[in-house]
Amino acid sequence: MSADSATAEIAIRNVSKSFGNHKVLAGVSADVNKGEAVVVIGPSGSGKTTLLRCVNLLEQFEEGEITIGGQSMGYRTLGDGKRVRRSERELAAMMILATPVTYWTGDITP
Ligand SMILES: Nc1ncnc2c1ncn2[C@@H]1O[C@H](COP(=O)(O)OP(=O)(O)O)[C@@H](O)[C@H]1O
Ligand SMILES: [Mg+2]
Repeated sequence: MSADSATAEIAIRNVSKSFGNHKVLAGVSADVNKGEAVVVIGPSGSGKTTLLRCVNLLEQFEEGEITIGGQSMGYRTLGDGKRVRRSERELAAMMILATPVTYWTGDITP
């Protein structure tokens, strides 16, 4: 991961997500450059899967932005600054971008 968000293939910016009152992601940011393989490590329940599900459009999130190849995933911002979920049709098209974002999750026991 790097801090060079201008060229990052995947840019995650201040993403926050809650399930009810439980805030699972609190302002998460990360960059992944083209060709990079990134491993997300953390305790069980820390939000790894939820973050990846936000990237590939399987979860909605309340704050922040995720871009792939410069395209804002899942949401668009209206002229008045209001953030709205994209239509099912647009989401389906974006899935094509998000599909190569593959991942493996599981427990690594030393
Ligand atoms: N669909 C859901 N509804 C409610 N809580 C959820 C849901 N998915 C995950 N959580 C909760 O969010 C937290 C993070 O889960 P998860 O992203 O699966 O963590 P990890 O992959 O790091 O183990 C956990 O407390 C989990 O119980
Ligand atoms: Mg998980």
